[in-house]
Amino acid sequence: MKPCIRLKKISKRFGSVLANDDVNLTVYSGEIHSIVGGNGAGKTTLMNILYGLVKPDSGEIFINGEKTDIRSSKNAISKDIGMIHQDFLFIENMDAVDNIILGKEPLKMGIVDKKKAKKKIKNLSEKYHLSFDVDKNISELSMGERQRIEIVKVLYRNAKILILDEPTAVLTPQEVKELFNILRALKKGGSTIIFISHKLKEVLEISDRISIMRSGRMVKTLSAKDAELKDLAVKMIGGELPEIEEKHYQGDEKVLVSVDNLSLKSKDGKKILKDISFEIKSGEIFGIAGIEGNGQKELEECLTGNLIYDSGSITVECAILWDISSKYFKDNGVSRIPSNRNELGLISGFKLYENLILGYINDKPFSNFCLLNYNEINKECKKIVKDYDIEPPDIYQLTENLSGGNQQKVVIGREFSKEPLFLIAAHPTRGVDIKGSWFIHKKLRENREKGSAVLLISSDLEELFTLCDRIGVIYNGEIVDIVKPENITFDEIGVLMLSGLTSFR
Ligand SMILES: Nc1ncnc2c1ncn2[C@@H]1O[C@H](COP(=O)(O)OP(=O)(O)O)[C@@H](O)[C@H]1O
Ligand SMILES: [Mg+2]
Repeated sequence: MKPCIRLKKISKRFGSVLANDDVNLTVYSGEIHSIVGGNGAGKTTLMNILYGLVKPDSGEIFINGEKTDIRSSKNAISKDIGMIHQDFLFIENMDAVDNIILGKEPLKMGIVDKKKAKKKIKNLSEKYHLSFDVDKNISELSMGERQRIEIVKVLYRNAKILILDEPTAVLTPQEVKELFNILRALKKGGSTIIFISHKLKEVLEISDRISIMRSGRMVKTLSAKDAELKDLAVKMIGGELPEIEEKHYQGDEKVLVSVDNLSLKSKDGKKILKDISFEIKSGEIFGIAGIEGNGQKELEECLTGNLIYDSGSITVECAILWDISSKYFKDNGVSRIPSNRNELGLISGFKLYENLILGYINDKPFSNFCLLNYNEINKECKKIVKDYDIEPPDIYQLTENLSGGNQQKVVIGREFSKEPLFLIAAHPTRGVDIKGSWFIHKKLRENREKGSAVLLISSDLEELFTLCDRIGVIYNGEIVDIVKPENITFDEIGVLMLSGLTSFR
């Protein structure tokens, strides 16, 4: 195979961080080449350089053997490179077709020829199994559909080299399978794919070759058939993670949280939550398993005082939480790691210390009679940064410059350090690398040991099985079964999640 991309000695510094340090990468045409690495390893920076979004400090780029100066994404597109970003950049109130053709509208006598555009899009989506509803607004589509539209968008611009930056981070397991079928079809059609991820199992499944990055450097490139999971993890982390001794719930019988017959209807009368009931004891992690979209999000919102439910009750340590407001819930000991940290957990344009006290600014010791106590704020924020290993440890930097995993640690540090009675963690390790996930799991266990009641909502079965004492399976707004992980297999719980049927057990 011949190389279609060759990056030579690429370096890029952001302030004190050397994001790319003399990086070499060769991608052969027609291969699926994965780049793996922990949060902050420099993967996105390298791809942004190839796509013309970031200018390298030094280094050279060769495309099909020719030395090339890529100064903008327009430049990159003209070299047949397309990039599907980590966060999709859509105009939400336009439909899929308008978003795809934006800036490249076919004209017929000066007017946009939408019919022609639709035909080309239909051909592309049929050829590569990229199904989505053409006429719906983007805001009405699932993450999987949005991603398929992004892929069509770059194919529409005739991209032959496709860069996908952590495409599976926002997808359900089913959607990941569909994406892999699409990638295989694209490869068969002659495309070259650069696939970025830190999920090693999927990388082993889809790649021809794998490149490993760590702390800005390229560690190694190897063929996927020679690669082994454990060895990849060690190279990616730069060592092995200590095993954690599992201390499951020891039987403190005190019920801390009781959810009784919680029900919620949508505006058009559809039942979203149906008589949800469960208890969580002090020192227990209770999981919610389910395919996304079965009511988990609404349950999370109800349990944090953000959504008014129709009937039922939520009790935390004997107090019925009657006032639906997130402040009141917080004051009664409810903490939350939200499923979408960018919407609900952080303000990315804020400095780190501002996010570390977000929502707690009026509480003691941060504020006293409306005056902010900067000494205390400083002290607490520095403590959280140290305890939660937030990198880089500067509390005055902008939060948006942190890697995803470190942003998640900001939310977790803030919420966990309040020693909550009831801790709701929704997809706490989504988009977080192996080392970060290990750390978050450790902190969740510590909270259990301190006696919190923990609710873990996750679509990652492995995470639920390692952490939870009991798991409730949610299907179509209903808890169809509550199981202990030691009494059920992955496959059995998978059937429950997909069908809601308990009869097979
Ligand atoms: N625009 C930026 N300004 C400052 N620092 C940045 C910027 N972009 C990335 N970084 C830093 O560079 C390092 C590498 O980041 P990134 O390439 O996003 O890593 P990855 O994609 O592997 O998670 C991180 O420490 C990150 O905080
Ligand atoms: Mg990245």
